[in-house]
Amino acid sequence: MVDLLTAQHINKSFSGVQVLRDVQFSLRAGEVHALLGENGAGKSTLLKTLFGMHKPDSGTLTVNGQPVTLKSPRDAQEQGIAMIHQELALIPELTVAQNVLLGNEGREVLNYAQMEARVKPFLNQVGLTAAPNTPVRRLTIAQQQMVEIARAVARRAKIIIMDEPTSSLTTHEIEQLYRVVRELTASGVGIIYVSHHFDEIEALADRVTVLRDGNYIGTVNQRDVTQNQLVSMMVGRDLVAQLEPPQRSPGEVRLEVEDLTRTGAFENISLRVRAGEVVTIAGLIGAGRTEVLRVIYGADVATTGQIRLEGQTVTRPTPATMMQRGVGFIAEDRRNHGIVPDARVSVNMMLTSWAKGTVSVREADMRRLVEPQMQQLGIRPANPNQIIRRLSGATNRK
Ligand SMILES: Nc1ncnc2c1ncn2[C@@H]1O[C@H](COP(=O)(O)OP(=O)(O)O)[C@@H](O)[C@H]1O
Ligand SMILES: [Mg+2]
Repeated sequence: MVDLLTAQHINKSFSGVQVLRDVQFSLRAGEVHALLGENGAGKSTLLKTLFGMHKPDSGTLTVNGQPVTLKSPRDAQEQGIAMIHQELALIPELTVAQNVLLGNEGREVLNYAQMEARVKPFLNQVGLTAAPNTPVRRLTIAQQQMVEIARAVARRAKIIIMDEPTSSLTTHEIEQLYRVVRELTASGVGIIYVSHHFDEIEALADRVTVLRDGNYIGTVNQRDVTQNQLVSMMVGRDLVAQLEPPQRSPGEVRLEVEDLTRTGAFENISLRVRAGEVVTIAGLIGAGRTEVLRVIYGADVATTGQIRLEGQTVTRPTPATMMQRGVGFIAEDRRNHGIVPDARVSVNMMLTSWAKGTVSVREADMRRLVEPQMQQLGIRPANPNQIIRRLSGATNRK
């Protein structure tokens, strides 16, 4: 059978930096083809190329065996390709029904009852129980994602691209997504699925293509490979040795939290973090993990309880005082809470130092401080003048 889609010898650079190098990809009807690679490997760039958002520098695309040139997402949609974005692309003020039919209206004018009747089967298919007249902004992220999938189904998309679709879903919502993915593939749709999670790949994928640093490493049948093999393909070396538990002997207690409560969020949390130690807070989405961290960092206020840093009680912590005392916070929602998306990498890295008032704002001083840190952290491209929004990863939203 002819592949639904093929991409051959795809090359793509951004301002001289090559991000995809001779990449191959193909999608069969009814399969889930996972795309795997470390952050920055080029996964989103490849997907955007397949969806007409980026023009490849060279290479060929075919849909149903026919060569195509995709100049825009509209061209891609006309070829039966849909994309469920990492950042959802719905119109929050419009209703579920309006969003599902968006861009799909044709020439007829539908009244509300007709719209509702038209979208109902698609909503059923993705298991969305919200009323069709609910404004999309009232929905959870998972429900919004289902609206996007319903829209793809309504457009009779044959190829659905999903870029890290589970990154903000709960366990239960992930199950629901799996069910929808399986139903779609059973009906012959091909799905391109980006994920870092091996359990998802194991549960869903028929084939896996691995990218590393923009290079095409290979395509394998998921059932024929072990997780370790996939990891080695991803990182280019055997990780097994490095997965052994680190030999550390933690030092004195740095942070102590006692009976911390924020009413409505969490209760009686106590923990200690010693020098040289990594402490994990485990729990499902919604269990209160982020809330605990936010209170420790002073972003929210505790109802009761104590926080001590190096033995000293911190009364009424604020992010500014915690920062001053050497506490850093990497927020979960980095775009909204962690970075200034339109500023340069260097400026973003300097923000807290400037806030503390300890460092000058001269360009030369900034470079001197930032460059070694970028190297140490392995930030690629190693360009302090890159606008941070353009970097890959969860912060790479338009
Ligand atoms: N619009 C862009 N302009 C410049 N560089 C970009 C752009 N989009 C992505 N990149 C760069 O391309 C590389 C691959 O990014 P991406 O495809 O987002 O990786 P992944 O999705 O695998 O994490 C990164 O180094 C990123 O900084
Ligand atoms: Mg990505």
